[in-house]
Amino acid sequence: MRKRKTKGSVGEFDTNWKQRKEAVYSHWVKGTPQNQVQLAFRMHWLLFQELMGGQDYAQCLEVGCGRGSISSYFADNGFDCTLLDSSKSVLDTAQGIFSENGHSARFVQGDALKLPFADKSFDVVVSIGLLEHFEEVSAPLLEQYRVLRPGGIFLGYIVPERPDNVQRYFTWINKILLLGSKIALGKKKRPVAKNEIYRSDYGAERYLPVIKKLEVSDLQVSGVYPLPMISHSPEFPFSLLPPFLEKVLTKIFMAALGLRKFFYKKNSWLCREEMGQAFLIVFKKSELWPPKVKLYQS
Ligand SMILES: C[S@@+](CC[C@H](N)C(=O)[O-])C[C@H]1O[C@@H](n2cnc3c(N)ncnc32)[C@H](O)[C@@H]1O
Repeated sequence: MRKRKTKGSVGEFDTNWKQRKEAVYSHWVKGTPQNQVQLAFRMHWLLFQELMGGQDYAQCLEVGCGRGSISSYFADNGFDCTLLDSSKSVLDTAQGIFSENGHSARFVQGDALKLPFADKSFDVVVSIGLLEHFEEVSAPLLEQYRVLRPGGIFLGYIVPERPDNVQRYFTWINKILLLGSKIALGKKKRPVAKNEIYRSDYGAERYLPVIKKLEVSDLQVSGVYPLPMISHSPEFPFSLLPPFLEKVLTKIFMAALGLRKFFYKKNSWLCREEMGQAFLIVFKKSELWPPKVKLYQS
């Protein structure tokens, strides 16, 4: 059994960000996505846009930003972005990606358990793949809630350790790819191993009791990402296949999403929680927070 971690596997992430070649991949793209991860971020963004529903939001904070892939979408759409991560190394990478793409933002090294921002600072607080790295979920959730402005939206995308989701039907492909990559590498120098990172298997039921104690409205929960990850090394940080294979897979997945949309008549990135690679928790901080007057029932 894995050792339980409580602080987001900060050291393990930092080592991966410093050592792995995947650390410099940029997953934001203006045109057609060219690989599975670019497609995933494009789909996250389209869903988030739908959930924000044309509201007049301006300031966005991403907690545990990594390379800032989702923040790149916010920045490209005119948001005033702040990106926070505990790893200095990945913040430097994110900064490089932003300047290459002509995006601007603030980059802050900090801890998700003690955000260095005043209460009610942001209209949108988003995290992708952060909360599942905490054993005790209330502290990071409460911090994100604290810095959210009343009326602002919380977008929490959580990727639990769950082998029985859509991926279960495709594990055999990944095993073949792994064998292929071992043969191709032969006696050549092997890449640096990925540092193992703690990830909980908690579903939404672990987070909801904390959220329901807060002043929130429009609470929604759904499974997301109903596609497999096809790779010889799908654990974090996700390793891409050769560009040609990635392009073909991305086209197939885009067609599958198009069909889903046609048949289900809703955002094709949504699915049952147990089937998705991840799940999403969305809520708005109540305008009544903190209540101006204390209400008593007669
Ligand atoms: C799985 S990565 C996700 C990165 C990015 N959001 C993405 O979607 O590619 C989680 C990120 O959270 C950061 N992180 C982990 N624990 C943290 C903490 N306590 N405070 C701030 N960042 C943390 C890690 O350094 C890492 O960059």
